[in-house]
Amino acid sequence: MPILSPEEAFKRVIAHAKEYGFIFQSSELYGGLSAVYDYGQNGVLLKNNLRTYWWKSMVQVQDNVVGLDSAIFMHPTVWRASGHIDAFNDPLIDNKDSKKRYRADVLVEEYSEKIRQKAEKEVVKARERFGASFDEALYRSTNPRVVEYLAKADETLSRFNRALEAGDLAEARQVIVDEKITCPVSGSANWTELRQFNLMFSTKVGSVAEDASELYLRPETAQGIFVNFLNIQKTGRMKLPFGIAQTGKAFRNEIVARQFIFRMREFEQMEMQYFVRPGSEMQWYEHWKSARMRWHLALGLGAERYRFHDHDKLAHYANAATDVEFDFPFGFKELEGIHSRTDFDLSRHEEFSGRKVQYFDPETNESYTPYVVETSLGLDRLFLAVLATSLDEETLEDGTVRTVLRLPYEVAPTQVAILPLIKKDGLPECAQQVYQELRWDFQATLDEKDAIGKRYRRQDAVGTPYCVTIDHQTLVDKTVTLRDRDSMKQVRCTISELANRLHASVSMTTLLKKSI
Ligand code: GAP
Repeated sequence: MPILSPEEAFKRVIAHAKEYGFIFQSSELYGGLSAVYDYGQNGVLLKNNLRTYWWKSMVQVQDNVVGLDSAIFMHPTVWRASGHIDAFNDPLIDNKDSKKRYRADVLVEEYSEKIRQKAEKEVVKARERFGASFDEALYRSTNPRVVEYLAKADETLSRFNRALEAGDLAEARQVIVDEKITCPVSGSANWTELRQFNLMFSTKVGSVAEDASELYLRPETAQGIFVNFLNIQKTGRMKLPFGIAQTGKAFRNEIVARQFIFRMREFEQMEMQYFVRPGSEMQWYEHWKSARMRWHLALGLGAERYRFHDHDKLAHYANAATDVEFDFPFGFKELEGIHSRTDFDLSRHEEFSGRKVQYFDPETNESYTPYVVETSLGLDRLFLAVLATSLDEETLEDGTVRTVLRLPYEVAPTQVAILPLIKKDGLPECAQQVYQELRWDFQATLDEKDAIGKRYRRQDAVGTPYCVTIDHQTLVDKTVTLRDRDSMKQVRCTISELANRLHASVSMTTLLKKSI
């Protein structure tokens, strides 16, 4: 890929996603709907494959995790019990000059990050100056400028978070004023008051207005799992520790909906709640932390693109939490959350429903509320991570540039394209036969239009790992060429060998074995 600024690289990803049928803006015909997207003919295949990869590794190859598909609508009291009605808020602030609205926490976080970056620049300069003898840890803890920057970044963020936790919105606003944080658009610090805004979408159910009751579109899939804990534990005769996994849509009225499919108002989550004996939760938290990282790394996008960000500030119900962050085109951001949620959710559902939501442990002969370790991954964010990292522009020996989507082979939308070299001499008929055979086991496509070189480029651009070319020799000895997307190398093999060869490198089994 030629060197591009992060903004240019990201714009290219968005343009590519549209041009090749991966992602379209929702209701584009009517001018589009902000922060809502549709997945096109290639996007839906890639998204389904990523979901299947998650599902198989979290359910099929786990001994003690079962699946669930709970409804999007749930009893309204669920959201009271879960705390979403009272506390699922974003702090908002408006700039009076630009009339732009911001999430106050994001403004403060970005401000702190800028100060932190100043410290990092000092460290880089010192490393260059001192060379091999540089003691980075010592420098970080003793250089007055670095110490001052880091302390300022931490203090600002903690003062803001303390104010929010105490519900003191005036003090939270004062942090923005005291630090002279300005609006990126108007450049002014002319801010409104700060207020909390609930992120849940609500709707009414019932035919007559007086009877109608307010329902919410679920903001996370997890609560469907908690309220089915007893159903599944009893009917499945599940013994602790065990997990319940589900994938499905979630909805949040995000205020700052930017960055393409990174932050959407309608998105898909893949969540698993692992129910454990109280006291063993930290062991399972560590277990799932490393298991989830292994799963991500198996996709082969590069270990340097992932990092953990352990939370210092914990939600009131959590006793440990981390984000798996990914290096998106706009920097490291949360891809997946892993949380040790204690017995908070089950206890609250017991309290609000008036029903006993406990587990009888046959080993200890006692009933108790299990603790929960949660893994929660956004499918759309995973899609963006895979798509953005895979898009490459390669300069070939003859100086031409090919656009190639280096998707992991196992999740590519189309696994194999069958291409007759020319559109005559019986080659299209032969290609049709090969296509008819392969389509039962593989997502295959048949393409006869344009010169062969152009067709290869088209398949490269949508990430198809293999092209099978039918030429005149095929009619003589039933052999074809098999072209590999990444190396562009072609090998000759028989038609009867094709399925096995393809299976060896595009099968999900290979990926799954790497991920466990
Ligand atoms: N049950 C826990 C939970 O929902 P979260 O950190 O709010 O935790 C989990 O969300 C994951 O869902 C995030 O790591 C992210 O991948 C995805 N996610 C959250 N909000 C999103 C949004 N507005 N658009 C796309 N993905 C989102």
